[in-house]
Amino acid sequence: MDDGTGSRASSTIEILIVDDTPANLRLLTSLLTTNGYKVRPASSGSIALRSVAFRLPDLILLDIRMPEMDGFEVCERLKADELSQDIPVIFISAMDDVRDKVRAFSVGGVDYVTKPFEPEEVLVRINTHITLRDLQKELVSQNIELKALMLKQREQEQVMIEQSKMAAMGEMISAIAHQWRQPLNALALYIQDVQGAYEHGEIDETYVDGMVSKSMRQIEFMSSTIDDFRHFFTPNKEKERFSVTEQIKKSIDLIRPQLKAHQIDISLEDEDAIIWGLPNEYQQVALNLINNAKDAILERQERECEFKGYIKIKVIRDREELQMTFSDNGGGIDASILHKIFEPYFTTKFPKKGTGVGLYMVKEIIERHYNGSVDVENGREGAQFIIRIPQKQEEGRHA
Ligand SMILES: Nc1ncnc2c1ncn2[C@@H]1O[C@H](COP(=O)(O)OP(=O)(O)OP(=O)(O)O)[C@@H](O)[C@H]1O
Ligand SMILES: [Mg+2]
Repeated sequence: MDDGTGSRASSTIEILIVDDTPANLRLLTSLLTTNGYKVRPASSGSIALRSVAFRLPDLILLDIRMPEMDGFEVCERLKADELSQDIPVIFISAMDDVRDKVRAFSVGGVDYVTKPFEPEEVLVRINTHITLRDLQKELVSQNIELKALMLKQREQEQVMIEQSKMAAMGEMISAIAHQWRQPLNALALYIQDVQGAYEHGEIDETYVDGMVSKSMRQIEFMSSTIDDFRHFFTPNKEKERFSVTEQIKKSIDLIRPQLKAHQIDISLEDEDAIIWGLPNEYQQVALNLINNAKDAILERQERECEFKGYIKIKVIRDREELQMTFSDNGGGIDASILHKIFEPYFTTKFPKKGTGVGLYMVKEIIERHYNGSVDVENGREGAQFIIRIPQKQEEGRHA
């Protein structure tokens, strides 16, 4: 409640008056009640303490000179109790004694009035301290609210950190799952091959050796994929100098069985180039681009029987940059979606064949780890992806 001057309406304010002189009690009681305060009189220190324990008043007017227990002691006891320590105490004394005043403040009083009373002065002082007390209470409750708010904010921040960790983890898992599809397909092909070979009595030592080494290559790739992507999200793996074409060749080897099965020709024209980074991660880039080209060609083969697909990879090096081009004759990319293909989860291979992660990953790796760029254009027969990596790569800079 507010009376418009910032303090509460005096009728709700209860004041405890402690004075052993009945005349003073009467005088103050009538002064305060006529001014709208609720009053509780107490004629001694011990009665005052009991009264406070029974119900906390808003303010205490406390006489200093009293038999048994003087005002100072009453005040000290009130201040020692957590429940009553915040009640403002205004001391009353007959004498205008400096030492009394000093002691009054030192035991925790907030003010001091001397007898004989000036009614106006007593009222103004009471009003001031009630207002101060209210402001203090407000401050305390605002402080509590603020603390609660800060706590909530901290909790929210924590939740956000957790969420972004989860998102990164989800991204990592989908990246790994994506890169595993290819070797899993290859392994499935090999296993089917074993069955066929057994039925035809073709299994001999050479066959087994070949099958083991082919399978191990796929499995090693799968294993390093996990390492790579763990590195991608917590970059601390050692980088090294590696040959770009060597990595492209490895990607081709991994996918060759599928290309062969669909009569897709693949060629690599290269000027050997060395760059700095994670070789296996680069292999992921090449594999994604080759896979996309293969998918585009397969789609075309569904429409045009006997269609012969090709994928051409070219590595060109000059003083400024390294340029790698992946082109195919899969028919190209519709102009209306050209601007979307690098977005995460954008795919035209519904319902189950694509996740739309491939090109997003390619772009992230090339831009973030190699400071390079990835561009796409439609050629005469199909899409062409161009990766540019600046030659001036300081070692370890592009982490
Ligand atoms: N060489 C290409 N020829 C034609 N279209 C392509 C080619 N490469 C990419 N695209 C188009 O770009 C889309 C996005 O490619 P991206 O590699 O990001 O995802 P995806 O291949 O559909 O799925 P994922 O790679 O996750 O299995 C493809 O769905 C396809 O429509
Ligand atoms: Mg893809």
